[in-house]
Amino acid sequence: MHLKWDIRNLTFSPALFAAPLAGITHSPFRRLLADFGGYGALFTEMLSARQILREDLVQSPSLKRRPQEGKVIYQLMMEDAEKLDQIVERLAYCAPDGIDINLACHAPNIRTRQAGSGLYENRESLAEVLALVRRTWNGLFTVKIRLGSERPGWQNRFAERLKLFEDSGVDAIFFHPRFFEDKFRKRARYELFDWAASLTNLPIVANGDMSGPETIEQNHKSLKNVHGYMAGRMMAVQPWFFAAWHKKQPLVLDYAEIWQRLFDYILEDFPPEKAISRIKIFTKYYARNFRFGHYFYTKVYNAPTLEDVREKATAFLSTQPEVMPEPSVQGLC
Ligand SMILES: Cc1cc2nc3c(=O)[nH]c(=O)nc-3n(C[C@H](O)[C@H](O)[C@H](O)COP(=O)(O)O)c2cc1C
Repeated sequence: MHLKWDIRNLTFSPALFAAPLAGITHSPFRRLLADFGGYGALFTEMLSARQILREDLVQSPSLKRRPQEGKVIYQLMMEDAEKLDQIVERLAYCAPDGIDINLACHAPNIRTRQAGSGLYENRESLAEVLALVRRTWNGLFTVKIRLGSERPGWQNRFAERLKLFEDSGVDAIFFHPRFFEDKFRKRARYELFDWAASLTNLPIVANGDMSGPETIEQNHKSLKNVHGYMAGRMMAVQPWFFAAWHKKQPLVLDYAEIWQRLFDYILEDFPPEKAISRIKIFTKYYARNFRFGHYFYTKVYNAPTLEDVREKATAFLSTQPEVMPEPSVQGLC
């Protein structure tokens, strides 16, 4: 298992990455992950040009970072190269440890703007964006991709994109081997990591359905040429996911205290009207830890005020609810 990765004057040790999750990996959640530790770097949520150019870099709950977070890679969601030089210049105030371009998101509002999967598909714009980021940003430059669109010839398009990344000075690839159209259906195609690695000299970090060291053990043949691992949904369910990765014994956890801590962190950074939705999104994931988690989430989801949300969550969590030994992320997206 590669647990250390040196690239472009950076060392990721361990080479475990917290995936970008829109609505979840804001600064308060990254602060909670940092309390547990165990990762090599965190990703921000995908960030739009508008956010970076307009928001206060010190106060914005999406952009700000705390020293205890460690390495933070900022992910951009771009449709074209317009204002990209200004964006990169402004982002430099946050001292990113890397800049990543989202080429994977297939949500309708993103792809119709020609960002995410839309940018991956548009070779000309993509080449322009990559070239401009490389010209203006001296640090680690990565892309996050899927397999592309499941149309005839996808293998050639995929190989051609990898070549474009190499030619454009991209340093590494975060790769989730599902097609855009799969969303989260089917399974991540682990057998394709080795194929992808055979097509490029760029380091690849494996992403998709990662549920801990056992995923690596079960798929070690397919993963022998990857440089690190990235986890998303399971880390949202279990913010201690990376800390637990390194432990032989299960961690002793106070589920009520952890939920309350994130509630407080979110209220510290977000205004109340925005905090409530962030708490509800997190609770959807956190509820997967419990046998009757759906009941917990429904109560919180239907609560109209922050105080009500807190009361409903405390009432459920104070009953010492039965914990699922292996929570599932199936159906979460
Ligand atoms: C709620 C949610 C939000 C996501 N937001 C982003 C995002 O902002 N940028 C991105 O590149 N991928 C995003 N993804 C995809 C994840 O980063 C990751 O690639 C995917 O969840 C597969 O990893 P997993 O099986 O470990 O969850 C998101 C996924 C989910 C479920």
